[in-house]
Amino acid sequence: TERTLILLKPDAVERGLRGEILRRLEAKGYGILALDQRVPDPDTLAQHYAEHEGKPFHAPLVTYMGSGPLVALVAEGEGVIAGFRSLAGATNPTEAAPGSIRGDLAREWDAPVIQNLVHGSDSTESAEREIGIWFPGLV
Ligand code: GTP
Ligand code: MG
Repeated sequence: TERTLILLKPDAVERGLRGEILRRLEAKGYGILALDQRVPDPDTLAQHYAEHEGKPFHAPLVTYMGSGPLVALVAEGEGVIAGFRSLAGATNPTEAAPGSIRGDLAREWDAPVIQNLVHGSDSTESAEREIGIWFPGLV
């Protein structure tokens, strides 16, 4: 079955929203294959965000993501990649629809990077690549 890599970003952990976000994922009917809380090392973040290298928000993004513990997990189920992106809502929390994780639980701040609680892989190729980065033992 399809798998996706999800991150509950440091703002989600700090704000005590792990349970709320996992509840939505499970209530939708997806399974959790692996789950781990950790402070990511710089090498992991560099690999994960290689596609954004050179963009103005790359450095603040890596700083934000390394600022504290996050929860990495692999979710599974038919259509889970697009399904979790839909649960998450638009990247910018001001534009994210009410009912979505970002639309209900996140907002914009005067900060160099958007803080939007969660990450979800955006394609089957990204999912397999990202699962290999965060859970090398699982592939
Ligand atoms: P992820 O699921 O985290 O990958 O979010 P996404 O796929 O909706 O966005 P994308 O991969 O394009 O960007 C990754 C992260 O970089 C986002 O979640 C934001 O935290 C940040 N980001 C993306 N675009 C911008 C932007 O235009 N400005 C700023 N300041 N931050 C951005
Ligand atoms: Mg992305």
